[in-house]
Amino acid sequence: MKPVFPFAPERASSLAGEVDALFLFILGITALFAVGVWIALLYFAIRYRRRSNDDRPAEIHGSLALELTWTVIPLAIMAVMFVWGAKVFFHMNRPPDDAMTVSVVGKRWMWKLQHPTGQREINELHVPRGRAVKLVITSEDTIHSFFVPAFRIKKDAVPGRYNTAWFRATKDGTYHLFCAEYCGTEHSRMIGRVVVMEPEAYQTWLAGGPPPESPVAAGEKLFTELNCITCHRPDSAGRGPVLVGIFERQVRLADGGTAVADEAYVRESIVNPAAKVVAGYQPVMPTFQGQVSEEQLIALIAYIRSLQFPPAVGTAPAAAPGPGRGPSRQ
Ligand code: CUA
Repeated sequence: MKPVFPFAPERASSLAGEVDALFLFILGITALFAVGVWIALLYFAIRYRRRSNDDRPAEIHGSLALELTWTVIPLAIMAVMFVWGAKVFFHMNRPPDDAMTVSVVGKRWMWKLQHPTGQREINELHVPRGRAVKLVITSEDTIHSFFVPAFRIKKDAVPGRYNTAWFRATKDGTYHLFCAEYCGTEHSRMIGRVVVMEPEAYQTWLAGGPPPESPVAAGEKLFTELNCITCHRPDSAGRGPVLVGIFERQVRLADGGTAVADEAYVRESIVNPAAKVVAGYQPVMPTFQGQVSEEQLIALIAYIRSLQFPPAVGTAPAAAPGPGRGPSRQ
């Protein structure tokens, strides 16, 4: 039986315990000091009250031992909070390599989600229990915030940016999903649910419904439809850079700088191609701002991510050999 007013939301992810332990520690320390200050306040108010009109207290000129004590002890406590907090922070912000990537697009006033296999959902996300899920979060209009209290994750959905969060659900069940950033009149109704399922039930759920188009396949189709393929050819004869094996690699720019070809860079290069032109190429690419939706951008990025150098055997287009990055990440 759940309490009517639970102290904290249910703990349904592997991070929840960590976050709660740190939170309770900080709450405990804060409470301890608050109580200490109240008691001291009360005691001093009585002990050192003015007893008569001509009461003149003795002057005090400080105490080194006292000042050192009240500096060093709080410093030590703060250092513990900082190190512990940083540890949890890094854990929360570094998705494991085996995580499945779900793309999240916030829009006034709904959440649009897509599974790595292509299934789409609105205001609802089905995930298998025990599996790490990485969320790549963006927005197509204003700032929203993806908040699942039971997983202790909250991440802003910012237009033009990809923020990531991850969780590993530990308990089957249905959990609230909120928008935690005021985004307009229907903000409070921008809610949904996350359904954590048995891994087998999740597979069954995935198999139901019409066979979806995977983001990579959708991206490949767009790549042809939008004529990207005429300039970004797999050989180096195109007017644009070869995209095979470029993802998450460093590229040299025409202005002498460098950039890592991550999601954000690829997105920018599609909507604002002149921003960071690769060295050796002319800024001839037209902008696709307004012509491709956030979902289409995600599909294009998935496709470009999938363009890896072929392993020893394969049918992918031949490309110039380059420094390998090991097996491709999906
Ligand atoms: Cu979206 Cu509040």
